[in-house]
Amino acid sequence: MFCVTVILFKLLLVIEGIQINYIKVPPAVQNNTDQSVILECNYSIRPDDSELVVKWYLNDAVVYQWIPPHKPQALGIMKDRVNLSYVSSDDPKMAYRSMQIINPTTNIAGEYKCFVSTFTDEDFSMKSMIVFVPEKSLELFHSGHTNQKINFTCTATEVYPEPKLTVFKDKKDEFENRNYLQAVEWSTSRLPTGRYSVTITTSILLNKIAAGSLVHCELKIPGTGYVKRKSMLYYPPKSIHYMQRHRKQLCLLLLTCLCFV
Ligand SMILES: *[C@@H]1O[C@H](CO)[C@@H](O)[C@H](O)[C@H]1NC(C)=O
Ligand SMILES: *[C@@H]1O[C@H](CO)[C@@H](O)[C@H](O)[C@H]1NC(C)=O
Ligand SMILES: *[C@@H]1O[C@H](CO)[C@@H](O)[C@H](O)[C@H]1NC(C)=O
Ligand SMILES: *[C@@H]1O[C@H](CO)[C@@H](O)[C@H](O)[C@H]1NC(C)=O
Repeated sequence: MFCVTVILFKLLLVIEGIQINYIKVPPAVQNNTDQSVILECNYSIRPDDSELVVKWYLNDAVVYQWIPPHKPQALGIMKDRVNLSYVSSDDPKMAYRSMQIINPTTNIAGEYKCFVSTFTDEDFSMKSMIVFVPEKSLELFHSGHTNQKINFTCTATEVYPEPKLTVFKDKKDEFENRNYLQAVEWSTSRLPTGRYSVTITTSILLNKIAAGSLVHCELKIPGTGYVKRKSMLYYPPKSIHYMQRHRKQLCLLLLTCLCFV
């Protein structure tokens, strides 16, 4: 039994000529900020292993390759977008394993795969990167009311990828600190640039919202950690005040008029 274990262990050692320890890909970066990002591929290689090849794929297309002793190359969509002199390790078998992308933009978002191989073995690992565009504007306003309900509309323009909008008010007196307003209408439009403009209309009963409440609209770009908020203090529209305060007088007036007719 012991012998079998030792033999298996030795076999595994022989088979594992190369192994990726981890890869690091930033999960989200902002579009076109003139800052570079580094995608790291950290592997271990047996000292006696030969014919090392390191490749990075983006959405299944090779975009970078390094076959020592040659210089690394950037290919396809990544041509002219990688710092080919970026060195990430003093070890000559690891020097150009990582890829420094200059000024990432939305067309190079997607699934990145580091693929390493040697004469005896290969390994790969994948992670995705989102490139987002923050909104151009985020607006929250009341949009119509009856004497029972009021609507709040929130609009975000020119965001990428598609954002999520929610409208809620503070709920100070309870454990939950958010009280979502019910969405009654929403629309998303995709612009020719690929960006999204999104509108959500929510509704609440007037007796469920006190004058002076804070109402918030929150925009999130899923998967990026990007969050933006617009808030407003709610005061009942003048006409509601007027109607409520003067409802009796209005009725009397109407009745009086009717009587005259
Ligand atoms: C990201 O930035 C690039 C460069 O300015 C631009 O061409 C591209 O349209 C932008 N992406 C979006 C979705 O706006
Ligand atoms: C990556 O792998 C190397 C071995 O080449 C190791 O020494 C190092 O701690 C790892 N991490 C980083 C960040 O380089
Ligand atoms: C490219 O990498 C080299 C070596 O790491 C560094 O000195 C240089 O500043 C980098 N260039 C850019 C544009 O980041
Ligand atoms: C609120 O918005 C919905 C959807 O646009 C609309 O049908 C409804 O009449 C609005 N209600 C009020 C009180 O304005």
